[in-house]
Order: sequence, then C-alpha cells, then structure tokens
Amino acid sequence: MGDNPASRLIIASLLGLAMIGNAGAAGPDNFNGDARRGADLVKNYRCGTCHDIPGVAGANGNVGPPLHRIGTRTYIAGYIQNSPDNMAAWIEDPQKALPGNAMPRMGIPQKDARDIAAFLYTLK
Ligand code: HEC
Repeated sequence: MGDNPASRLIIASLLGLAMIGNAGAAGPDNFNGDARRGADLVKNYRCGTCHDIPGVAGANGNVGPPLHRIGTRTYIAGYIQNSPDNMAAWIEDPQKALPGNAMPRMGIPQKDARDIAAFLYTLK
C-alpha cells in the first residue's frame, strides 16, 4: 500500500480492531503482550543477575544461558517447544514447566510473564 490517506485509514482501522481484540483476558488463543513494558519488567525482576540479555543495561549474568536470539530459539531450556504461550508459562513458573531445573520460580504474575515473553520475542 502506498502512503496515501486511504491506506492510513485502513491501517488505523486494523489497529483499532487489534486493540478491541486485546481487551479480552490473555488466553492461549489470543496471546498478546507489551514488549516495552516487558523490557522494564526484565530490569525490575533482575533477570540479568542470571542471564546475559541484549539491550538490557547491566544484564550480564552467567548463571543461566544468554538470551541472545531467544525469540528464534527452537526449544526453551532445550526441552520445551518455544511458543509465546510456552515462554510465558516458563517465566511464570519455570519449576512447573520443567520440574527441577535451575531457574527459580519468582512469583511473576501472568500479565507480567506475557509482557516479558513479548520482549524476549524481540530478541531475534
Ligand atoms: C537465579 C538465576 C535465574 C534468574 C533470576 C532467572 N533465570 Fe532464567 N534461567 C536460569 C537458568 C539456570 C536457566 C536454564 C534452565 C535449563 O536450561 O534447564 C534459565 C533459563 C531461562 C530461559 C530459557 C533459556 C534457553 O536458552 O532456553 C529463559 C527464556 C529465561 N530463563 C528467562 C528468564 C527471565 C525472563 C527471567 C526474569 C524474569 C529469568 N530467566 C530469571 C536462571 C535464572
């Protein structure tokens, strides 16, 4: 589409529809997350004490694997198929996702986990 008022109107309408769609609660069929908020949450939850995370100041931990290009990784923790829902579930409760692994449960609410997952998917 070119840069003309009609195409802008179409884009604006599509964005409006997407926002209406987002009004519902996050569920397996309507995954959504706010990547910018997720980036702040990654700082606040101090994921960087254990992970090297591109674009997050001071996140250079080496307890867990670096999260470079995690958005295109095939498996989470070498075991779980990488999908937005599985990523959010991992962040919410890694011990439920893969019992006994070395990442602790941090008590992260679902909404925060989804926003963090959205941020992680920007790492390609
Ligand atoms: C106390 C250290 C620690 C903290 C804090 C921590 N993690 Fe982890 N994380 C780990 C370890 C260890 C693993 C590796 C688990 C495995 O592979 O069995 C891991 C794995 C992961 C993976 C999968 C990586 C891969 O290569 O498959 C992701 C994604 C992840 N963590 C995200 C986060 C996020 C986001 C936070 C903050 C909310 C966080 N972690 C906080 C230790 C930590």
